[in-house]
Amino acid sequence: MNVKELVKRLMPEVVLNKVKILKFTKISNRFYKYDSDRFLKHSNVLTKWNNPEKLLGQIIVEYHAIEKGLAMTNMRLGFGKNVLIDLVNHCILFKNLFGTDREQFKYALRVIAEYKSVHRNEKFDLEDDLIDLIDKLLLKEEDLEPSEQISMTKESYLEHTYSSFEKFSSNRKSLRMFEGSVKIEDIEKAVSLAQNAPSACNRQPSRVYVLQEKELIKKALEVQNGNRGFGHLSDKVIVLTAELGGYLSMNERNDVYVNGGIYAMNLLYALHYYQIGACPLNWCASPEQDLKLREIFEIKESETVILMIACGGIPDNFKLVTSHKDKYKNIIKVI
Ligand SMILES: Cc1cc2nc3c(=O)[nH]c(=O)nc-3n(C[C@H](O)[C@H](O)[C@H](O)COP(=O)(O)O)c2cc1C
Repeated sequence: MNVKELVKRLMPEVVLNKVKILKFTKISNRFYKYDSDRFLKHSNVLTKWNNPEKLLGQIIVEYHAIEKGLAMTNMRLGFGKNVLIDLVNHCILFKNLFGTDREQFKYALRVIAEYKSVHRNEKFDLEDDLIDLIDKLLLKEEDLEPSEQISMTKESYLEHTYSSFEKFSSNRKSLRMFEGSVKIEDIEKAVSLAQNAPSACNRQPSRVYVLQEKELIKKALEVQNGNRGFGHLSDKVIVLTAELGGYLSMNERNDVYVNGGIYAMNLLYALHYYQIGACPLNWCASPEQDLKLREIFEIKESETVILMIACGGIPDNFKLVTSHKDKYKNIIKVI
């Protein structure tokens, strides 16, 4: 027996545990610092727009907010003026700094053009300074086609429920307009199907809470940032969590999100398959928000919240947000 093993054997359990805690706290701090340093360096949090990815990320978030507004059934004319001004200014900056080639940049211009044309068609006068700013950006874009949020019928939304995966997957889109209820049995069927999701070492950390009581749904959605204008139409809200207990080493610190994310996608497909309207809702929450959610209903302490999914019945007619996807060629690198 070497000295290390001998010391270990002779040491009282309490001391041994203290040593263990110290050791793993040190490792944990180093690992999380590594993650945190990378995040602070490369995300938009600290340094803004010193590369195209950061500015484009900002632009996408802003044009998506405008798209969502344009697709609302009760669209409020003149909505989102401040976001639109930021968006146009960021597009002008992007054009000057990084050119006009990026697909998502071009699409942002189309959303801005749609905003302008929708208001023109409705004979709603946008303020002159806003029009001037938009015109400055779109000056040389004579051929630009405004984007168009998608008018849908229930029938066409569900047209490919039993088609090939290629068609089925192309037809799934986030729904933000619900009408009527969803049977709990159908959600259970979807969860049962989602159980096919792969997970690291098959540890299956995902857990599913289905909120059906209206007051509970209201409270849960109040602590989520991203359901304004449609959350209140939800008939059920799913809160997807993942259990931390099965993870064995600090190397696995982010695996809970990977497994939870894969499960979430499987569940979204399963909900679509069972013809349940669904919209994923981010859980990009501060510790305070996370604790608040845990006060609203009991979430096992060892589970990490991954996201929520607003669910509801599919209306006969509704609008979908276009949410333009990049061509695969823009994101693939064969090495
Ligand atoms: C992790 C995640 C979080 C999301 N959070 C929200 C949200 O808070 N509010 C919302 O309206 N949409 C949210 N969405 C939906 C996205 O906006 C949507 O998936 C994206 O625009 C692509 O559109 P599609 O789902 O129709 O393909 C989220 C999606 C994901 C995957």
